[in-house]
Amino acid sequence: MKKIIITIDGYSSCGKSTLAKQLAKKLDYIYIDSGAMYRAVTLFFIRQDVNWRDEAEVKNALKDVHLEFVYNNNSGQAEMHLNDENVEHLIREMLVAEKVSEIAAIGAVRTFAVAQQQKMGARKGIVMDGRDIGTVVFPDAELKIFMTADPAVRVERRYKELYAKNPNITLHEVKENLELRDYIDANREISPLRRADDAIILDNSQLTMDEQLDLVSQWVEDAI
Ligand code: C5P
Repeated sequence: MKKIIITIDGYSSCGKSTLAKQLAKKLDYIYIDSGAMYRAVTLFFIRQDVNWRDEAEVKNALKDVHLEFVYNNNSGQAEMHLNDENVEHLIREMLVAEKVSEIAAIGAVRTFAVAQQQKMGARKGIVMDGRDIGTVVFPDAELKIFMTADPAVRVERRYKELYAKNPNITLHEVKENLELRDYIDANREISPLRRADDAIILDNSQLTMDEQLDLVSQWVEDAI
């Protein structure tokens, strides 16, 4: 069967990755979490104490960043490796979440990530989620989805996810972080988060996972 590119963009914690993983599994496609790449670069910059306001320093630091998605048989997921270290869990921590949108707004960082993302999609059969996938990374993708959900629902979802790993986290902290990231992502100069003109809007505030998957599976059939 013909393989296509499916892009899923939207605000933080709309459930993009959940849907992308389910779709990739169902279609036997590759799933790429583009946000993990920005998170891994952020972790590297924090660790190396890179002054990310200095363009030359950023460009120089990026030369030492090697990112790879490595499939883990136990988790059944592709996990983010930074310079051969599995950082899948570390990049989800608040320390990284607090800085990632600032770093993802830097031109050199985006050029670095987008080039690798485009290579991954060269053979199609891919579902990629992020903020600029349908607008910049794959403007010719066959199916583009723009996800939204009620902000209160999104905060609650992300809180539950983070609380499971760190019971010290507060709802307020999670809410502030989501709002800040959404604001920076939507208002940055380079590749801001926006719906591609040809993207279908999916508001999943009121949908169950099964209903959502059924709906999108129909869109996939129509796109193929
Ligand atoms: O998807 P996730 O929430 O893990 O992404 C983390 C951050 O990475 C986002 O808040 C955004 O700043 C950045 N990002 C981006 N472009 C993408 C994916 C993520 O700027 N395609």
